[in-house]
Formats: sequence, structure tokens, C-alpha cells
Amino acid sequence: MRRRILAAAAGAALAISMAACSGEGAGGGGNTGDSKPGDLTIGVSMPTQTSERWIADGNSVKEKLEAKGYKVDLQYAGDDIPTQSQQVDQMITQGADALIIAAIDGTALSGQLQAAADAKIPVIAYDRLIRDSPNVNFYVSFDNYKVGVAQANALLVGLGLQNKDGSKGTATGPFNIELFAGSLDDNNAHFFFSGAMDTLKPFVDAGTLKVKSGQTKIEQIAILRWQQETAQRRMEDLLTSSYNDGSKVDGVLSPYDGISRGIITALQNAGYGSGAKKLPVVTGQDAEIASVKLINDGIQSSTIFKDTRLLAEQAAIAGEAFLQKKEPQANDTKTYNNGVKVVPSFLLPVQTVYKDDIKPVLVDSGYWTAEEVAAGQAKS
Ligand code: BGC
Repeated sequence: MRRRILAAAAGAALAISMAACSGEGAGGGGNTGDSKPGDLTIGVSMPTQTSERWIADGNSVKEKLEAKGYKVDLQYAGDDIPTQSQQVDQMITQGADALIIAAIDGTALSGQLQAAADAKIPVIAYDRLIRDSPNVNFYVSFDNYKVGVAQANALLVGLGLQNKDGSKGTATGPFNIELFAGSLDDNNAHFFFSGAMDTLKPFVDAGTLKVKSGQTKIEQIAILRWQQETAQRRMEDLLTSSYNDGSKVDGVLSPYDGISRGIITALQNAGYGSGAKKLPVVTGQDAEIASVKLINDGIQSSTIFKDTRLLAEQAAIAGEAFLQKKEPQANDTKTYNNGVKVVPSFLLPVQTVYKDDIKPVLVDSGYWTAEEVAAGQAKS
């Protein structure tokens, strides 16, 4: 009896996956371009819910697609690569008509993308490029190199070496700095790093900025999965190994607000920010509410604001174009080579936020309310 049930279940699973592969049923191949939005489902695969930005991204993409009448299957993978692979597999076998994916590891989804291509399901890489696969149809993101440039400029401005308009500042240094980068398996981490390092290099070469630990290679400074705790530990290690001679850290290049908060905690535990020991200039990214409060309170120096509402809108526009069997409009067809091909992209601009920018950029645009900024917490 049990064997018969198992065999029946296996047969049903095979039938579903064959339907998906042959493009029958509700799958991508079944959509001829004139299907009603209500008959089409878009699978949205997001990396994690531990960072607010991805929650906001997921919700915005869902809202925008549902407003256009589509059905949405939104899944979060808890920063676990096998979970994300399994969720995408399932979206394909359940007959998704298009996929929007923000990958945890940009190189780990080739098998899923091949299955999607076989079922004629278009794939949009969301914010993070999916690498090593010919089956990425489109990429929506921000100008990630410019994010790195903006982070480095914010560090220079915070130290007084440069003014906000790019002109030379009054400070002369030399300053001790330390560098952090994101997760090596995230393509963006490399773009942020190269934008930042190209901008900082002349100051390092001139001796105005000194990386006292000597750790300047991305492999030495990367933080796996962008984890706050890992960043805190690395900062603690740096303070012990390189600053136990009475010297001070003046600036830290941080690529993401969660990492910045880990760095700040390590510094505060070591006595920075009390008495004469000023906290160093710490940069960030994403305008997470906890960090916006820290910027408002003069603890974190800056963040880079990426308006996830606009990114979600672009993803929805691209998704709809594919479902109508049209090509979405790209504004960059050169920058993002995923190792197999250059993926046509739509890139959005970013904005640096210092304390003075919180109200005009974040509050007045409705991204955060003044109450949320004061509390350092999103109102759910
Ligand atoms: C995103 C950043 C984010 C980071 C950590 C990157 O891929 O582009 O905005 O800070 O992941 O979640």
C-alpha cells in the first residue's frame, strides 16, 4: 500500500516536472504572450530576512506585480544556499512563468537556471548578478561601482580630506583606516570594493591614508554573508593586533550598514566614543533604520541610499515585458559580464546620506518616518 502511494506521488512529481520542461500547463512556455495577468505567476526568490532591505525589496516587488494583476510566489531562503536552490526548483516545477532572483551565492544557481531555460521561463537577476550561466535574461540593479566610489568619498569627507562637492578639504592627515568588504560570493562586493579602492588609492599612495593592519586585499577583508557578528569579531581582532600601541583608528570603510553596526559595537566596547577617544568615521550602505538612527545621533558617519522601491518597480516592468514576450529596456549593455555573457541591465543611481540628508532624502520621500528615525526601528 505504502509503495503504491509513493509510486503515485513520484509519478505525479514527474508529470509536474515534465509539464514544466515541455512548457505545457501554467509554465513559462505555456504563456504565449496574450495570457491574462491573473493566469500568470512570478516566482520571487530573496536571500534573507535578517536585513531590512531584502524584506522591503520582497514586499515592494510583490506589491508592484500584484498591482499589475499577476500572482506572486515570494520566498526567502534564510541565507542558506541549498534552501534557495530548492525554492527556485519548486517555483519551476510549480509552473512559474517568470523568475526574479536575488542570489545568495551568485555562482550556485546554474542548474536551476538551466531548468528554467528548458521550461522557457525568463530569469531576472535582482540586484545581485547571477554568474556562470547563459540563462540570465536581464539584470536590474544599482550602479554598484559607483556605490563603492560614493562610500570612499564619504570616508574622505568624514575625515575632512575632501568636501562634499569633491573639492579638497582642509585636513591633511595622515589617518589610520581599516577596510571591510562584503561576501566574496556576491558579485556586488567586488564592484563596491573596486569603486572604493580606485578612489582611495591616490590617498594611500601619498601616505595620507594608512591601512595600519596592512590588510588591503579583498580576500583578507571580506565578510562572509555580510554578517554583523563576523564584522564585529574582525574589528575586535584588528584592534588587538594593530592598535594596541596607543594608536587610533580614524576611519573605517564599511560596505553595508549591518557590517557598520558590528564595527561600531567593537569600537565602542574598546572605549571609542567616550571621553577623548572619538569614534572613527564609519561608512555604510542601504539606509537601514538602525543605522539611520546612528547617523542621526552622530555615531555612524554616512550610508548609501538605494531606493528599493525604484528597483522593485524596474523588476516588475522587466517581468511584465517578458510575460508579454517583449524585451525589457536596458540602460547598460556593457558592464555586467557574468562569466558567460554580458547581461543587459537596468541600473539605478544611488545617493549618499549624511546626517543633514536624512530629512530631505529619507523622510520627505516617505522611505522612513521621522518617528522611525528617532526610534531606530521600522514600524511594522
Ligand atoms: C546589496 C547591498 C547589501 C548587501 C548585503 C548586496 O548584494 O547590493 O545593498 O548591503 O548585499 O545584503
